[in-house]
Amino acid sequence: MTDQLSPPPAPQQLDGRWVDQDPAADRYRVRTSAYSDPAVFDLEMSRIFESTWVYVCHESEVAKAGDFKSTWLGRQPIIAARDRTGAINMMLNVCRHRGNAVCRTETGNTVIFQCPYHGWSYGLDGKLAGITDRNRYPSDLAKQIGGLVRVPRVESYRGLVFASLNPDVPELREHLGPVLPYIDHWADGSIGAEYVARTPHKFAYPGNWKFQAENSLDGYHGRFVHESGFAALAHEPGGTEVAADKHEFMAFDSKAGLTRGIPGGHGTLESPGSGLNRQIGVAKVSDRSFDDYHAALSEAYGAERALSLLGSRHVLVFPNLVLMDLNIRTITPISVDRTLVHSFFAEAQGVPAHVNNERLHDLQVRLGTTGFVGLDDLEMFGGNQTGVHARGMEWIELSRGLPTEQVNEAGEHIGAASDETPFRAFWTQWAALLESEV
Ligand code: FES
Ligand SMILES: [Fe+2]
Repeated sequence: MTDQLSPPPAPQQLDGRWVDQDPAADRYRVRTSAYSDPAVFDLEMSRIFESTWVYVCHESEVAKAGDFKSTWLGRQPIIAARDRTGAINMMLNVCRHRGNAVCRTETGNTVIFQCPYHGWSYGLDGKLAGITDRNRYPSDLAKQIGGLVRVPRVESYRGLVFASLNPDVPELREHLGPVLPYIDHWADGSIGAEYVARTPHKFAYPGNWKFQAENSLDGYHGRFVHESGFAALAHEPGGTEVAADKHEFMAFDSKAGLTRGIPGGHGTLESPGSGLNRQIGVAKVSDRSFDDYHAALSEAYGAERALSLLGSRHVLVFPNLVLMDLNIRTITPISVDRTLVHSFFAEAQGVPAHVNNERLHDLQVRLGTTGFVGLDDLEMFGGNQTGVHARGMEWIELSRGLPTEQVNEAGEHIGAASDETPFRAFWTQWAALLESEV
């Protein structure tokens, strides 16, 4: 079949290892070149983004027949499209004629994809639907071509759609295995039906993709990076309590939260729910919205799980998906020093509209493109990228909390809220994929 993916090129072998784990010395270090070397980036694309499962979209982004999204799977441009049978198809966004990008918009709805160069067209399932002035081609060319090259594996879990370019990748549930309970926890925040992901905020920053992956679970930086943001938020209605609450959580000796390094490279940053701060995750909402959401959760899941669901939990699903309380953040590597981030508001179902409206306002004020908090992180990533190029700075330290972290029966490493515990889980998986002899 000509519409199958060709095998990936053999990755360049690089000498040396990037992750230095020395349990005897309670030391965990990562080479700066893991963030700065284009050859490492190529290897990551080959061995992670083009070999394992990668998050692509939420089902609600392509809810109706004809809905599509164009994005990237590693270095491969792809289209995800819902066809009339309800299936979500993924295929390379590359015309079989002379390789032009068939789809030029990020999202939309269509009946057909028509290449802008010479007009060849493809159905929502990628099949070749028409060749312009086809008489000047061999009569069986369309049959030989088949259609757009298909992404071989596409699977969903709780509304989250993942794909892999590797036809032999293990089942998605096996890949997600240890992080499934935390995905379920996130998904249960929407009641009776899965979330609806709304039009995202989109950011680009001049730094490596792993800075965002790490930062999503970093409870160590807030007191510095976000101090001015929290001060500004204190002027919002109810903001004084929000600022005080964040200050407590960000305290370096805080008992209010934990970090979790999960086998497979996943991780969490958590602040357990007690209901006392009357927030939805870290979102400050009115008493009315808090009470209505709390009541809806209690009715659906019982009092104990309802309180748990009101807590704050950031979940990194290796390598590129972050579930931030109820919302969704995605990480798209473009090059070794350029990354795209999309921040989606996830509209909870089964709750009154005013609950979602206030949650949306909170997300925009904190983490939107003009928010008080999120932009400060991007500024840090640019600063990091400058540093990892510096000669004489061969290693970065990820040892925080290593001497005191605990390991539970599930093999999860549990650290304090400001510990670097989840980063070590991330890098251990990263090293397992990149440092293996293939
Ligand atoms: S490159 Fe697409 S029709 Fe020619
Ligand atoms: Fe931050």
